[in-house]
Amino acid sequence: MTAVNEQMLPLVREVISGLQHKPGALLPILHEIQNRLGYIPPESVPLIAEALNQSRADIHGVISFYHQFRSTAPGKHTIEVCRAEACQSMGARQLEAHAKATLGVDYHGTTSDQNITLEEVYCLGNCACSPSVRINDEIVGRVTPEKFDQLVDELRSQTLEVH
Ligand code: FES
Repeated sequence: MTAVNEQMLPLVREVISGLQHKPGALLPILHEIQNRLGYIPPESVPLIAEALNQSRADIHGVISFYHQFRSTAPGKHTIEVCRAEACQSMGARQLEAHAKATLGVDYHGTTSDQNITLEEVYCLGNCACSPSVRINDEIVGRVTPEKFDQLVDELRSQTLEVH
């Protein structure tokens, strides 16, 4: 167990004890842990399994079934590329291939400097300005590969300024 994950266990226990008696408690517990920590530390799984009287394999199965759940910590920034129809018709496939190549990760992956996590999303409500991405909480439209690279450079320079 990493020291970082160990520090999170009191919060995980608090979430479990607050929700475990509700019907269908597993999904609310997983959502709440991820909301509060940004991911579901693997060390949470035995605690959840024990509290809900289910097997660890069952809990793992649910976490891996739902793509929105993460088992590793996200990077400082998240870039979500829209893969829905309107964006696809305006070049989102090329954009996602470019994003993966530029960042060197697949969807759900985080760059080796722990700076940027790449995620997929299905419609950001910005179809008129396809293709769209969301960077942290900001939606950006008409994203060409060149614009994507500029956005990544901006994120990287922001991170450098923080240090
Ligand atoms: S389809 Fe991409 S924003 Fe709607």
